[in-house]
Amino acid sequence: MRPARVAIFASGTGSNAMALIAKAQELSKEKIEIAFILSDKPAAPVLEKAKNAGVRTYLVEKKADRKAHEAEVLSLLHEYHVDWIFLAGYMRLLSADFIQRFRQWHEGAEQIVNIHPSLLPAYPGVDSIARAFSDSVKESGVTLHLVDEGMDTGRILVQEIVCRSQDSTLPAWTQQFHEVEHRLYSQFLENVALGRQPTVYFKETP
Ligand code: GAR
Repeated sequence: MRPARVAIFASGTGSNAMALIAKAQELSKEKIEIAFILSDKPAAPVLEKAKNAGVRTYLVEKKADRKAHEAEVLSLLHEYHVDWIFLAGYMRLLSADFIQRFRQWHEGAEQIVNIHPSLLPAYPGVDSIARAFSDSVKESGVTLHLVDEGMDTGRILVQEIVCRSQDSTLPAWTQQFHEVEHRLYSQFLENVALGRQPTVYFKETP
C-alpha cells in the first residue's frame, strides 16, 4: 500500500500547515506524504515556510471565474493522486461541484477536513477568536470537521474546549487556540498515516 497523500491548503501564516509538515516528517514516508501546499495568496508566509521545509508549493491565485480557479486546483489534485485535503486557514469556500469531483475519486468518501477556532456551530467564518473574546465568553474551543460547501458547516469529528481566564489577553488566548489546533490536527494526520482513520485511495473514475 502506498502512503496516504495529503494536500494542505492555506492562505496565511501557516502555523497549522507547518505543524502538519513537522508531524509528517516525523512519521514514516511509507505511511504519509505531503504532496504539496497550495495557497491562493501570493504573499502568504506559508509558501516560504513550506519551501524552506522542503515541501512543494503551488500558488493558484483567485480568479474572477471560480470554476476556472477550482479547475486548476483539481488538476493538481489529480496529477498527484491526492487522497486527503487538509484546510489550514484556507480562506475560500470550496464549491459543491469541487467537493463532489474530489469525492468521486475516493468512491464517495469524505476526505476533506478543516480546523476551526471555535466550538462550531458557534462563531463560524473569520475572526472567530476575537469575536468570542469581545463577547467575554468563559470558554470557546477548536473544531476539526469534514468540509462541505457551507461556511464551517461539515460534520464535526473532534472538539476541544479552550478556557479563558479572567486576566487573559487576546494574544495569549489566541496562542492557546493554536496549541490545541496544532495538537488535534497533527493527531488526525497521524491517525490517517497509521490507518486509524481509514483512507479510500485516489482512483480515477471513467
Ligand atoms: C487558524 O486559527 C485556523 O483555525 C483558522 O485560521 C487560522 C490560520 O492560522 N481557520 C479558520 O478560521 C477557518 N474558518 P495559521 O495560518 O497560523 O494556521
